[in-house]
Amino acid sequence: MSEMFTPEDLQTVTRVVRQRRTFKVMGNSDAPVQIDPQSAEKNRAILLESVKSADSAPFHYDRQCDNVPQPWRVNILWHESCQKVASNFYQWFDDVKPGNKLPSMLSACGACVLVSWLPQFSNSISEDAASETIPKAKQIQIDQEHLAAASAYVQNLMLLLTAANMGTYWSSGGQFRTRAMMDRLSMAAPQQLLAAVFVEFPDTNSDEIQRVPGKLAQARSSPDRWMNIVQL
Ligand SMILES: Cc1cc2nc3c(=O)[nH]c(=O)nc-3n(C[C@H](O)[C@H](O)[C@H](O)COP(=O)(O)O)c2cc1C
Repeated sequence: MSEMFTPEDLQTVTRVVRQRRTFKVMGNSDAPVQIDPQSAEKNRAILLESVKSADSAPFHYDRQCDNVPQPWRVNILWHESCQKVASNFYQWFDDVKPGNKLPSMLSACGACVLVSWLPQFSNSISEDAASETIPKAKQIQIDQEHLAAASAYVQNLMLLLTAANMGTYWSSGGQFRTRAMMDRLSMAAPQQLLAAVFVEFPDTNSDEIQRVPGKLAQARSSPDRWMNIVQL
């Protein structure tokens, strides 16, 4: 039988859900934040556990990619790898504007977790032999639900990291979405980036960094505007 939770457990989960907020943490890419090796080790272990626990997200269809049913893939860049991307950024990409935010965010985060989803029918390599026989509307639904499941994975991860007192920011990914960057990170198709989650470790020195809230954080309408009890 599954574990019973207490009212306190519910309160804790509710607090975590309500407290999760975007903070874009930006540092100086010429002077990346220094992360104490001991606390980095501890925080990396917590992050890895969270990445594994987030796998409890629901998913509707067996994606059957490399015999893995889950429609998400996760690539983790620790601080040192983030710094390498930051310091090579303008050599790797000659089409980005100066002042691009990615190098400064990569210089300040403890880790960046890249979560991809795996389109099954709407991808360029069209790997699915059954795509001829499955109606187009069904193909679209299946892909939408692969994406929805991967989104549930991302939120699970962010809530777990929030409960571990880590800062999170779900970014669309900018340059991380490009095939050029994904090739450098060995992220093969059909992976399609869904989220670059920037993770701020709890003991990052906040004097060195700027923390900017999400632009829609205060824009929410109250539940009565988007919720309806259906009366029949
Ligand atoms: C799919 C997705 C992609 C996002 N991409 C970006 C992004 O590229 N840049 C950005 O500033 N915020 C991005 N955000 C974060 C939103 O700005 C943020 O969630 C919103 O402002 C509400 O703030 P809150 O997360 O603090 O509640 C993204 C959020 C989601 C769900």
